[in-house]
Amino acid sequence: MGKTSDILWQDAQHQVLFEILDLVRQPDADWQVLRRLEDYTAYHFALEEKYMTVLDFPGRIEHMQSHQRFRNEIAKLLQSGEEFDEQFGEIIATFLNEWLTRHVFGVDKELEQFILNSPIK
Ligand SMILES: [Fe+2]
Ligand SMILES: [Fe+2]
Repeated sequence: MGKTSDILWQDAQHQVLFEILDLVRQPDADWQVLRRLEDYTAYHFALEEKYMTVLDFPGRIEHMQSHQRFRNEIAKLLQSGEEFDEQFGEIIATFLNEWLTRHVFGVDKELEQFILNSPIK
């Protein structure tokens, strides 16, 4: 994954998210990896949301809703009771990767620009 943001913390955290998603795809992956993704996602989304709130970012409602949908998807998977085999890991890694890529290069880019133009980075 190339650089996702000109803001250091945002880019570093996105890199970690994509790294965890790579682990979901590994043959020895299990539910533990998905719980790690859930935890790190919570941490990352909370920080972005803090910036949106403090800076009064105009797109914050939609952006927060998008975060919430992703949190719900992960929670749904964790509660699914599915067996975590290689094929399952592959399917969910592909799905989560597509979602995250679209988010990171979509709405996160709008937030990035807004933060870059604000006094707090
Ligand atoms: Fe975001
Ligand atoms: Fe993000």
